[in-house]
Amino acid sequence: MSSDPHPLLRAARYGGRALASAASGKGGDTPRLRIIRSFGAGRSRVTRAQQRSYEKDFPRYSVAFTGKPIEADACFGRQAPLVLEIGFGMGETTARIAQTHPELDFLAVEVFAGGIGSLAMRLARERVANVRIVEHDAVEVVRDMLRPGSLAGAHIFFPDPWPKARHHKRRLIGPGFVATLADRLRQGGFVHCATDWEHYAQQMLEVLQGEPMLRNLHPGFAPAAVNPLCERPATKFHARGERLGHAVWDLVFERV
Ligand SMILES: C[S@@+](CC[C@H](N)C(=O)[O-])C[C@H]1O[C@@H](n2cnc3c(N)ncnc32)[C@H](O)[C@@H]1O
Repeated sequence: MSSDPHPLLRAARYGGRALASAASGKGGDTPRLRIIRSFGAGRSRVTRAQQRSYEKDFPRYSVAFTGKPIEADACFGRQAPLVLEIGFGMGETTARIAQTHPELDFLAVEVFAGGIGSLAMRLARERVANVRIVEHDAVEVVRDMLRPGSLAGAHIFFPDPWPKARHHKRRLIGPGFVATLADRLRQGGFVHCATDWEHYAQQMLEVLQGEPMLRNLHPGFAPAAVNPLCERPATKFHARGERLGHAVWDLVFERV
């Protein structure tokens, strides 16, 4: 499934955030990064088990970022509605939703190699066949790998909140990205976001409401963590938010 370069080269793309932080990223073959990234440089620790699975299991599920649109049917070996997940973290929710919905295919995008190893380990252990993983910046994946109208839905659960005002520009959910994502949804396709940061929740509501291709399925925030195809189980970051005493906001919009 993957023709990507060696993991060390891929790791270098993300400033050592991915596996093998020893990779310097100074090589001439490191692709140019876009200027604003929605992910930080912090969480780079990869456990041995994650590393093993990244090397052993991930290649079976990996779809390489080539900068060209993917043929989803060929990636999954069948025709099924395609749901994108952006920033799956450790992937426990991804695997669970995919098991609950064998009728759907899931394209899961993440830049954190430890999380990728974790998800690949789960998929292999639990023999989940309807998930493929792209290790790359989701902004570029949406822009370059997905054709207009190709998605049945998109899950964006607890994207990095960037709580400081000077960092708000790094938030994933902004008008430009949402317009591109909306274009990739088929008519009636949905985008489901969740966050435990009130300011970001309000920003999401404004941005999603301001996108003419989208329509809110609820009068404001969604009353439950449910979209037209799936229910969102509590994710790791959902639990973390609750431990911090945060409320959780879900938003579900559909493509008109
Ligand atoms: C706060 S965590 C939430 C993880 C998971 N969704 C959950 O709820 O437990 C956000 C995740 O999004 C990933 N992420 C942020 N921006 C991304 C991007 N542009 N492309 C791919 N992954 C991204 C981060 O690496 C991180 O793992």
